[in-house]
Amino acid sequence: MSFHDVDLLDLNIHIDNPEPLYAWLREEEPLFWDQHNEVWAASRYEDVIFISRNTDIFCSKYGVVPNIDLDTWPDDAMINKDGRDHTVQRALVSKGFSPRNIREMEVRVRELTVELIDKIAGEGSCDVVSALARPLPMLVMGDMLGYTRDTSDMVLDWTDTYVAGGNGPQHLTDDIVMAFGSFVMFHEELMESRRENPGDDLLSTWMKAEINGERLTDEKIMYEHNLLLVGGSETTRHTISGGLLQLMRHPEQRQHLIDHPEAIPNAVEEIIRWTTPFIRMARHLTRDHEMHGKVMKAGQQVMMLYPSANRDPRIWDRPQEFDITRSFSKPALSFGFGKHYCLGAALARMEIKVMLEELLKRLPDMAESPEQPSAFKPGCFLRGLESLPVVFTAR
Ligand code: HEM
Repeated sequence: MSFHDVDLLDLNIHIDNPEPLYAWLREEEPLFWDQHNEVWAASRYEDVIFISRNTDIFCSKYGVVPNIDLDTWPDDAMINKDGRDHTVQRALVSKGFSPRNIREMEVRVRELTVELIDKIAGEGSCDVVSALARPLPMLVMGDMLGYTRDTSDMVLDWTDTYVAGGNGPQHLTDDIVMAFGSFVMFHEELMESRRENPGDDLLSTWMKAEINGERLTDEKIMYEHNLLLVGGSETTRHTISGGLLQLMRHPEQRQHLIDHPEAIPNAVEEIIRWTTPFIRMARHLTRDHEMHGKVMKAGQQVMMLYPSANRDPRIWDRPQEFDITRSFSKPALSFGFGKHYCLGAALARMEIKVMLEELLKRLPDMAESPEQPSAFKPGCFLRGLESLPVVFTAR
């Protein structure tokens, strides 16, 4: 099969069995020129590492979404910075995401998880996405940002709508623009109230912070605020729902985790590899660079295809098998690699672990609904389940 004419920003190409495409790219065109979008794509594990590591050749400061230009769509968040600008901006909040801080948050995350499970435990059925996987990451972020419970629900509706902007400018709709506008207005009101009543939440941390002796502008804080919401919400959701789907389809592996809960952290790593929620991040070339006999020109963009790297047979033994006992001599690239390695990785791992621990204890016989099939969400930025209807013995 040949995919020479593939449009890598098509909304369905990565969703429904993309492996034949990825296998073709890795073997035949490891550096592929997507002529529809005029962007390169790298699909092998080692190439994704190389691009992420060499920030002097592959930079982030012109944006990390293909064909979205920061002059037209400004975004001053850390993800779009290089070098010292990036280090300084990331350091402002990195303490909040340290392993120690995340360990301390575990009790609260468990409380929230149990509360969500208790709401549906008597029902005997639910949609895992809307009842569990979607609300949990937002409630956790809401705590870190000092939101009230109602606020978390409202913001989640907006971010769910406008995150689709990451699919690219050709997929932009009025709904996306309006939802982002609502978020910006909400952010401004929140800043006003925090000026009067500062707390120990992340927003207050940014408001007190200085870079080179100067306070951060409200706009910069808005972009960082937005990055945490977009980075931490749908991604973690898709790993939780996608991981549960795999465990329901591999009952012997699920039973192993019920009998050996100490094996859950390794299962979390496999779930993160298997689900790989971000399809790609992009970099701009700062100078010409040759790879696999082709020259990428200064100013062009290259996308790193994380789901393909996480199935690269050069690295992974039996890459197409879901195996919670897999040993990881190298990390999956779902959280990226290098300087921009996901700030929320420890938090996401902990949320997935806690959800698995509590669900396997409380609803151990959860199974896919025989009547309603699960559905994936179309997209070329994020991939994951839109709904996952399940049944279980009511408690
Ligand atoms: C399973 C869940 C998650 C996945 C798969 C994921 C994936 C990623 C990836 C691939 C990057 C690298 C971007 C790049 O190299 O350009 C990244 C960066 C980032 N992520 Fe996550 N993420 C997850 C959860 C979270 C959470 C829970 C948060 C925060 C609450 C978060 C916040 C961030 C931030 C702030 C960055 C930018 C870091 C930087 O530029 O230095 N992420 N994430």
